[in-house]
Amino acid sequence: MKTIKAIRGMNDISPAEVSYWQLFEDTARSVLAAYGYQEMRPPIVERTELFQRSVGESTDIVEKEMYTFEDRSGDSLTLRPECTASCVRAAVEHGWLRGGGVRIWHIGPMFRYERPQKGRYRQFHQLDVEALGFPGPDVDAELILISARLWKRLGLKNIRLEINSLGARDAQAAYRQTLVDYFGAHREALDEDSLRRLGSNPLRILDSKNPELQALITDAPAPVDHLDAQSADHFEGLKRALREAGVAFEVNKRLVRGLDYYTGTVFEWLTDELGAQNAVCGGGRYDGLIEEIGGPATPATGFALGIERLVELLKVQQVVPMEASPHAYLVAVGDRAGQLALALAERIRDQSPGLRLLVDAGKGSFKAKLKRADRSSARFALIIGDSEAEAGTVGVKDLRSNHPQTTIAQTEIGGFFHQQVLN
Ligand code: HAM
Repeated sequence: MKTIKAIRGMNDISPAEVSYWQLFEDTARSVLAAYGYQEMRPPIVERTELFQRSVGESTDIVEKEMYTFEDRSGDSLTLRPECTASCVRAAVEHGWLRGGGVRIWHIGPMFRYERPQKGRYRQFHQLDVEALGFPGPDVDAELILISARLWKRLGLKNIRLEINSLGARDAQAAYRQTLVDYFGAHREALDEDSLRRLGSNPLRILDSKNPELQALITDAPAPVDHLDAQSADHFEGLKRALREAGVAFEVNKRLVRGLDYYTGTVFEWLTDELGAQNAVCGGGRYDGLIEEIGGPATPATGFALGIERLVELLKVQQVVPMEASPHAYLVAVGDRAGQLALALAERIRDQSPGLRLLVDAGKGSFKAKLKRADRSSARFALIIGDSEAEAGTVGVKDLRSNHPQTTIAQTEIGGFFHQQVLN
């Protein structure tokens, strides 16, 4: 029969790889708690309209990358391509903004119908961090410091920070016209994509990867040179805060990001060690979004980090996650011992919380069972035969040394493991 394969661009995370994910997730949880951010878990499916209104009709994501379908009642639903929109929707829907600012985070899968390649998938995972209700550059800086601390705690190096400012909505409109005039005067040089964007979303032309457009883009008016006074102050405040905290950055005037909701600060963390998909993390301020989706006018800022790319970077930089191999492997030989093995393992787990104990399952000779114990990477084999079952003892063999096997009372096993592996 033909085998069924996973969907292109949607990956299994194997048991061998999951320790990297757990290392990242545990570290992220601990770092975010240190800054007072709380986890939230929105659904994976939302109304299509939410992303059309937030991410923006003329973005690549909404134009061609969303997994959209009609459910049985005819509603248009979408597998979330990102989760800022969901966080904002939830905060408005449940009135979280009434009590002042909200600092939240979420980890989960996102879906974009992109052309899969290394570092770019159709189902990928993000850590998303959002601070709603804070107008100042201090919280933009706080978000950047959170990501910097994450790199530090994970032992990651060579991730560089680029920042830019797109200005407030009103100033954006005036700047947009300047940009349309500029690119409009060079129409003949534009490619098909950029011509289309000229009418719908001229800022996105600055993000074009077409090598033939780069000279034109370099000379184009940059948003950061057309800021309103308040945005300029805000941007200065951010730069000051970063310098004060010792975070190196570079202003990239062409950094515009691929989603429409940004106002003011935008930033990205980039690496040269992952090939073409070099953005590990990106975010910025979106002061107009909450009002646009029907909530009270509220400033907000946030970022999302691509976990697949981060895990790849952990591997490239040889950050080794903690071993998750079992501490001990229990082997039973003989009928009576076989009947007692599971119950004995339960008693051991009662005595030794935190102990990773694997119980041998399946048939085979004593030799075959010991071979399985060795292959499990456990340090100790616990061996129970009928005579040990009778005497209330267990044989202990250190699989990683030549020490002879010892025998200890079953009631002493907790103490033994506490001394050997758990303290
Ligand atoms: P984004 O730049 O679209 O921003 O995505 C953030 C990160 O997700 C990227 O830097 C990248 O690491 C990862 N990523 C994006 N697409 C893929 C993909 N197809 N495969 C693998 N990784 C990917 C956002 O999503 C915004 N919601 C960020 C934000 C939060 N802004 C404010 N708050």
